[in-house]
Amino acid sequence: MSNGQYHNGDGGADHLIADFLRTSRELIAAQRDVMLGYLGTAPAGSYLSPTPYPSPSAYPEPIYAEPQPALVSAPAASAAAGPERAAGAGSEGAAGGVGATGATVGAEAPTQELSEASVLAAVLAVIADRTGYPVDMIEPDLDLEADLSVDSIKRAEIAGELATRLQLSTGGDIEELAQARTAAGITALILAGLTEAAPADATTEEPEVPAAEPAAQLLQPARPAGDAAPAPVIVAPKRLVHKEFELAEAEVPSGELKGRTFLLIGDGDLAITLAKKLKALGAKTTAKPAAAFDGAFFLSTEEPVLPDAFPTYQAILKTNPRWLLANGPGDGLRGFFRTVSREYPDTIARVVEHTPETTLADLADGLIAELSSVDREPVVLRSAGTRRGLELKETGLGHLGSTGAGPAGDGAAEAAAIGLDRDSVVLLVGGAKGITARIAGTLAAATRCRIELLGRSPLPIEDESPAVAAATTEAELRSALIDSGLRAPAEIERAIAKIRSAREVRATILRLGELGSPVRYHSVDVLDTEAVHHAVKEIHADHGKLDGIVYAAGVIEDKLIAEKSPESFAHVYRTKVDGAKALLDATNDLPEGPRFAVLFGSIAAALGNRGQIDYASANDTLEQLGHRWSGVDGRRGLTIHWGPWAPTGTNDGMVTPELMRSYAARGIELIDPEEGALTLLRELAWGPESATSVIYSASGRWR
Ligand SMILES: NC(=O)c1ccc[n+]([C@@H]2O[C@H](COP(=O)([O-])OP(=O)(O)OC[C@H]3O[C@@H](n4cnc5c(N)ncnc54)[C@H](OP(=O)(O)O)[C@@H]3O)[C@@H](O)[C@H]2O)c1
Repeated sequence: MSNGQYHNGDGGADHLIADFLRTSRELIAAQRDVMLGYLGTAPAGSYLSPTPYPSPSAYPEPIYAEPQPALVSAPAASAAAGPERAAGAGSEGAAGGVGATGATVGAEAPTQELSEASVLAAVLAVIADRTGYPVDMIEPDLDLEADLSVDSIKRAEIAGELATRLQLSTGGDIEELAQARTAAGITALILAGLTEAAPADATTEEPEVPAAEPAAQLLQPARPAGDAAPAPVIVAPKRLVHKEFELAEAEVPSGELKGRTFLLIGDGDLAITLAKKLKALGAKTTAKPAAAFDGAFFLSTEEPVLPDAFPTYQAILKTNPRWLLANGPGDGLRGFFRTVSREYPDTIARVVEHTPETTLADLADGLIAELSSVDREPVVLRSAGTRRGLELKETGLGHLGSTGAGPAGDGAAEAAAIGLDRDSVVLLVGGAKGITARIAGTLAAATRCRIELLGRSPLPIEDESPAVAAATTEAELRSALIDSGLRAPAEIERAIAKIRSAREVRATILRLGELGSPVRYHSVDVLDTEAVHHAVKEIHADHGKLDGIVYAAGVIEDKLIAEKSPESFAHVYRTKVDGAKALLDATNDLPEGPRFAVLFGSIAAALGNRGQIDYASANDTLEQLGHRWSGVDGRRGLTIHWGPWAPTGTNDGMVTPELMRSYAARGIELIDPEEGALTLLRELAWGPESATSVIYSASGRWR
């Protein structure tokens, strides 16, 4: 149900909001209680108030750099981790190597007598230091992530600090330590390492870091004291598009397939033809996933393949097959296979897309040829005997698009070119938070248009208690909540998340109003298709128009394929795909629909990313959705695959300050939020109508 309310940009804004909030109090309180019930905690005391955000100065001073005129090529990718490494990785070891043994006291380190008690005490002290919890509240068996909100990056920092404090010889690899889920687990690993020497081949190899994934958990050891952390580099994004390039001919050496067994998923004529051809080459086929096989073909092209096919793919990959091929195209399969080939570098994994007119026999021959190891392209386009891959190429918008069209550079000229003015109505789904809230701000400043925001969070209505209101940082919030009587860390973490979410939504509403845009917020779960349709209909009915939509709702639950639950895959996938579908479908029911729809994808789809199989597939699917929506009455459905944005302290989005530090340590540049927001307007204003997907990334590392 919508609980929208306007907020005008005049002096009475606070009064209007307060008035609305009062009249909505009962309704929202009921929603809040449901939410708290769902979260497993009783409604707590009031803690909402117009508290300012933590000052961005709490973050390392960034470097604002001018865009580089030339592209920097990525350093040659180091040998990627093998599947067994992936399979052994911790839940969020998305970009890290795996397989180091426990830490040992360094040869050069003074001999230490480390008892279990002293190691545990050190571990608890470091965790307390990093989280703000007093040591006595950190039970050794608490789950660091679920109970204390210590994500993999913070865990890596903790591991690095412990390695320094306890003078552990880790060979530079603290990953296993960083993957331990509890203080007790970290302690056990350290103690085990003290009695067991690191193997001679313990590697410190850098895992491949695919370009600049938005929220992959990059593990980075904490720097030794005194060694200054590199400052993040924050720049305007570059515009990239996928371009086709010729690939070498693929051929399977004769005799190569003799005695091999292939699993064929999907029946029908293609399966029959392929089975015959494989048999002629001396191979066997089976349709039983439980059988032993060397390779698998996924032949079903009945849409949608994802997310339902994920468990089947996962089961196949568990066997570390030599080959995994899919007959494409299929929604999300490009992002899916780009990620599979990053997580399983020993498997030839690719989706093969043939032109529609290809005969069954040619389809089967093409699929067999793609068993070739001539290259590792995860996406191959075949037509009339040619093979082509896709690569990212920097393709600017020309002078106007790269410099801004007006002297002020505030987006006003771009907005005018798009046809947006004060009278326009723009709906931003996921727009009350994160990078979309930043974009809403730029839009409001440039046009003062009417802005409709949609998000899952309920509209915040309660004032915070004075003690909580005075707390700005997470550590201060923790202390204030502990002082208010909360004792269970999991409960405290949930309360902090709620407070921060409420503050962000409220601040966005206030800010947009101050910038002169009437703004309304709707609490809608995009997975509720009916509610999405209702909200769109209502917005259109209220204004008599809807000029443009931005779809930015999304969640991440990073895990390697081997560890991903089908439910989690479906949740991440559906939040993006089903939500976007519902929104786009809803516009088709309007008498006059929007002229543009911008869907927020991710560079993880364009490149694949370890640990983000669901997210990469979903963002790739958005491309197809936007493309299909385009064209009708000249409307443009544009998917923007963003690289990571710099957090601002007010609207961080998926890139947390910890993740920013990790990117900085790896030399990955981040998108300057002001430039990023203007970029979207420039793309809509000056980008070619035919462009339905584009990548904007600050980092030059995209291979
Ligand atoms: N930040 C980056 O660097 C970056 C990079 C690449 C791509 N992106 C993409 O940009 C978009 C915004 O990301 P962000 O970083 O700004 O993250 P964010 O702050 O977490 O924003 C995500 C938004 O999605 C909303 N949302 C999630 N599930 C929803 C649901 N079921 N129903 C309704 N709303 C829902 C959230 O609202 P509630 O919290 O109220 O649920 C929130 O407003 C995402 O699609 C992301 O994939 C971001």
